[in-house]
Amino acid sequence: MYRSRLDGKLDDITLEFLSSISDDSVIATYDILGSQAHTLMLLENKILSKQEATKILDALEKLKENIPEKSEAEDIHELIESLVIKKAGKEAGGKMHTARSRNDQVSLDIRMKIRDDINMVCFCLNQTIETLVNLAEKNQHVIMPLYTHMQQAQVGLFSHFLLAYADALFRDLDRFYTAYGRVNESPLGAGPVGGTSIPIDRQSTAKMLGFKGLIENSIDATTSRDFVAEYLGNASILMTNLSRMAEDFIIWSTSEFSFIELADRFTSTSSVMPQKKNPDVLELIRGKTSQVIGYQMAVLSNLKGLPSGYNRDLQQVKVSIWPTSKILISSLLVVNSLLKTMKVNEKKLRQAIDGGYSISLDIAEALVRKGIPFRNAHKIVGNLVQIASNSKKSLLALSTDEIKNIIHDGEINEKDLYKIIQSTTPEYSLETRKSQGSAGKHEQQHMIDNRKRKVQAYITGTNKRTNEVRESFETLKNNVMSLTKNTS
Ligand code: ARG
Repeated sequence: MYRSRLDGKLDDITLEFLSSISDDSVIATYDILGSQAHTLMLLENKILSKQEATKILDALEKLKENIPEKSEAEDIHELIESLVIKKAGKEAGGKMHTARSRNDQVSLDIRMKIRDDINMVCFCLNQTIETLVNLAEKNQHVIMPLYTHMQQAQVGLFSHFLLAYADALFRDLDRFYTAYGRVNESPLGAGPVGGTSIPIDRQSTAKMLGFKGLIENSIDATTSRDFVAEYLGNASILMTNLSRMAEDFIIWSTSEFSFIELADRFTSTSSVMPQKKNPDVLELIRGKTSQVIGYQMAVLSNLKGLPSGYNRDLQQVKVSIWPTSKILISSLLVVNSLLKTMKVNEKKLRQAIDGGYSISLDIAEALVRKGIPFRNAHKIVGNLVQIASNSKKSLLALSTDEIKNIIHDGEINEKDLYKIIQSTTPEYSLETRKSQGSAGKHEQQHMIDNRKRKVQAYITGTNKRTNEVRESFETLKNNVMSLTKNTS
């Protein structure tokens, strides 16, 4: 449709190579809504007559249900314009593209798509965080070992672990939540790169499409895709957090650990080994994380070498967005259901403590409370663990005679040390663990209450934004309808 300056048609292979039609179905509806807002604005500003605008709007409205999948157009913008011209006639339809360009149009469509996706991701994140916090509340009494280097480190609580995931996801949530403000600005009316002499009203289209404001500078509006890089960066970080959780759960659901058991309907089996119950869902969270990181790399390396102004390379940016959103949303939905249905094996978690030496630091701190310098206490307990581990027993099983062998400087006698070892139970340790945000028993409920309030605030904010977008589309539709209702 646009090739009057050029001789000849594109051959089939070149068209296929150039065309983004197959990637554009995702933004077709947004392109129509954007075109309707643009048309209404042209009417408001007397750039189109009422009759012309009505014909265009009517054609656009009918296209909503029926956009052909195959065409000779190079992209959805050309296809929709050509179909509008076909339906509304050259006189009216030929005026739809007045004072805009595919360059502001495509940026608009992507922004509208990411805006919806962010609201959906925030919705799913809110749900998953709520589930984690509720589970934490139920598991405040479940004692487990905490690990560093995958070796037992300290005595902890399962609730504390779940709250740690929740807090990481809160930061993800906040990254998406604040990125929304940078996405929710309208590039429409920027034209190809330098604006237009036609007296358009960019604020009006922005308002009609529910944007909070404009990407004002027309070069910036048509060139920049940093909002895409930001979205994908946030996506990579979120997936990396989910992947860590997945990795923990994969390890914990091995028969060796058996800390948790996944519900059957979230596991897969083997075609050949009948006993298998595999955590494929969790493995796919890890696998899809790599994919999302790849999409982010694809976008950043696309953008880094481009000069200002629209370049066709930008067409390839889109194809990293759609699958990323799908992965984010499905991962969060699946993780949420998996969390709600998994079983926590309290006994196994507790046994793991009894079979290890994660109580060591608590014993050392008990010595510190007796006035022994920490470095000395560290040494005493290190020696205790050495002799216990050499004879393959727990610290509790050490006799006063054995303890006596490791005391050299008279800071404490073996009877007192024996008493301290015997009284420093995991339960007692968690009672006395006081520092803010620790695994201490009394730290849990206040974190839970605080996170519950926090997630409610995000839920309210996300709902408000979703409604604002929906309401602006409803108003747009009503305005279109009040013009077109007598047509056809
Ligand atoms: N299909 C293009 C894209 O997705 C639309 C913009 C084309 N603009 C242009 N000047 N060729 O990026």
